[in-house]
Amino acid sequence: MNIHDLLNSMTLKEKLGQMTQLPPHFFLSLSDTEVFGEKRTLYLSHDDILSTGSILGVGSAKEMVTIQSLILEKSRLKIPALFMADIIHGYQTIFPIPLAQAASFNPNLVKRMNEISALEASTCGIHVTFSPMVDLSRDARWGRVMEGFGEDPLLNQVMAKASIDGYHKGKPTDVGYLATCFKHFAAYGASESGRDYNSVDMSYERFHNLYRPSYQAAIDAKSEMVMLAFNTFNGVPSTINKTLTQNILKDTMHFKGVIISDYDALHQTIAHGAAKDDFDAARLGIEAGLDIEMASSAYLEHGEDLISKQKVSIDDINASVLKILELKQSLGLFEDPFKGASELREKTLLKTSLHFEEAEKLSYESPVLLKNDGVLPLKSSSKIALIGPFSKTRSLLGAWHWHGNIKDCNTYEETAKNLSVDVTYVSESLDINDIHNQLDLFDVILLMIGEPQHESGEAKSKVGIHIDPNIKTFIDYANSKHKPVVAVIHGGRPLVLDAILDANAIMMTWFLGSRHTEVVMKLLLGLKNPSGKLPMSFPRHVGQLPLSYHDFNTGRPYDPIHNEYTTKYLDVHLSPLFVFGFGLSYTKMNIKVHDIKTHWDGIHPLEITYTMTNSNDISGDEVIQVYGSIHPSIPVRPLKKLISYEKIHLKPFESKTQTIKLFEKDFILYNESGNIVMTPGTMTLHIGFNPYELHTLTLEWSPS
Ligand code: BGC
Repeated sequence: MNIHDLLNSMTLKEKLGQMTQLPPHFFLSLSDTEVFGEKRTLYLSHDDILSTGSILGVGSAKEMVTIQSLILEKSRLKIPALFMADIIHGYQTIFPIPLAQAASFNPNLVKRMNEISALEASTCGIHVTFSPMVDLSRDARWGRVMEGFGEDPLLNQVMAKASIDGYHKGKPTDVGYLATCFKHFAAYGASESGRDYNSVDMSYERFHNLYRPSYQAAIDAKSEMVMLAFNTFNGVPSTINKTLTQNILKDTMHFKGVIISDYDALHQTIAHGAAKDDFDAARLGIEAGLDIEMASSAYLEHGEDLISKQKVSIDDINASVLKILELKQSLGLFEDPFKGASELREKTLLKTSLHFEEAEKLSYESPVLLKNDGVLPLKSSSKIALIGPFSKTRSLLGAWHWHGNIKDCNTYEETAKNLSVDVTYVSESLDINDIHNQLDLFDVILLMIGEPQHESGEAKSKVGIHIDPNIKTFIDYANSKHKPVVAVIHGGRPLVLDAILDANAIMMTWFLGSRHTEVVMKLLLGLKNPSGKLPMSFPRHVGQLPLSYHDFNTGRPYDPIHNEYTTKYLDVHLSPLFVFGFGLSYTKMNIKVHDIKTHWDGIHPLEITYTMTNSNDISGDEVIQVYGSIHPSIPVRPLKKLISYEKIHLKPFESKTQTIKLFEKDFILYNESGNIVMTPGTMTLHIGFNPYELHTLTLEWSPS
């Protein structure tokens, strides 16, 4: 197919159709697909609908084939539609939510999860996934933190690449390859007060240094598309923000792919107060280079008028359509418009026992052990009580579970039975009056608590992110009776855990998907050793948000001795309760960091050698983290920034000597204009197991 000839043969209306994405309910009276966002009636003609270039979210191969056949049979040029969907942490086999994926600090696992997701999604003819979400997020009030990789730029970059590499298995024309659309550009995670869809206002210095790197990593990993964010960015809705799309995305970050809006977001520029009406919105969208509008119809309704009144240029429209056609061509849709969609493959490929086995294997590194006084691992001979609201639930898939079915999840009780462990469900309530006389029957209590899965995700912002303070009463009572309590926390965001600090052990399990209870029970029993680390800091109090380990100093650093006019809160300590990078395991590892050179010119990599020793009789994993800072510097650098990390495995009593190499590019700093500034200074490196448990080295740095 010569797409230039095709473009030349298209009417303006047909071009505008390619620039429009509609949900399947425009084509099917009955679609079993949940569409996120408002279902607004668009006043489109039959021909307009058939000219649509892409479809958002179909429910099955049958639906995809029906819609694609309609388009191929009834439209003049028979241009196959692209089918896109939110395959975020699985299609039918569901994996840990992305925040939990990040907690593994293990990109190989994330890559493999997405290979499986891509294979399953392709059975219903999905071509593009609206994933990964690489919005840096530091505000746990924002419900969408579950969908991203947390607070750290480096971890976000690593996971962005791993995610995309997984979806991109094989060649673009292969069944099982999913094109990707990273999102949401720009800085959606920084919405003011953690309120979804709210404004974002930040300096370009902050944007370039903290927020841009993960989007850049997605571009470098060859993501085919980007989705613009709902929010305004520095006063202009991202959907029509030319500074973002042209100056930053295209000119500075060299993105050449297709740009799509978020759901109905072009129309919503009117509600933002930026566009006068849909005519104006369409003009602003085309001027900003918005190639596809999702679930609104400003282009189709007003594009012809805009051209006839010479308000927009046909060259801009042609450029957008050409990119869309190129994407269709690269995915092989002109040769095989039904690529991958097969009811037969749906029967044999979805939720296979192999996929479920892999889901389990790939999830062990996500839960994070936050406290353990020795009660864990549980003895398999113990009599264990299950108490609390999550004791019997199957709602463990996580908020973006697409076609996952909670019936595929076993309850904790079922899983314990399958593992022949003596576990008894006692009560969902934690009311001591109801259960005090039963506690004597048990050796240990598993307190199954947290935040329900429907309270994180899109439009799920909250200010009350603390664990119910009444739980403390229960823990105090159990402590007084010498009954050990293990708090097993569920949730899609960092929670304030102060009420449960007196539990004997605390494990943050997130939402792990189809095999949640198997993974958690095996970790609690010590059949596997926990190795997850927090991808976001957990606050002491919601008032600390936004929060991260990645602090800048002030002119008056915290000083507990002369502390009146130094930076602090009067009523809560500055630090997180559990910091980014923190997580325990059942082994005790020690690290010895070897001396490094005293000067570095950046020409050759800087080598840091360390020896890790496992002083226990069980094997385990540890994440060695290297944080760095340089001063003096303008702009100033944070006190600690994760520069590099590696996860290593040690057998019982094993010692390993490893070398981490640091490169000059790891210390890149941007100024307000997006230019790199590298000034000589004293470099401080911290090496260890989290930002607070570190060995410190200093050297003089004079960049090349
Ligand atoms: C979300 C996007 C998502 C889109 C399509 C929107 O509401 O913000 O992340 O990709 O819906 O489902």
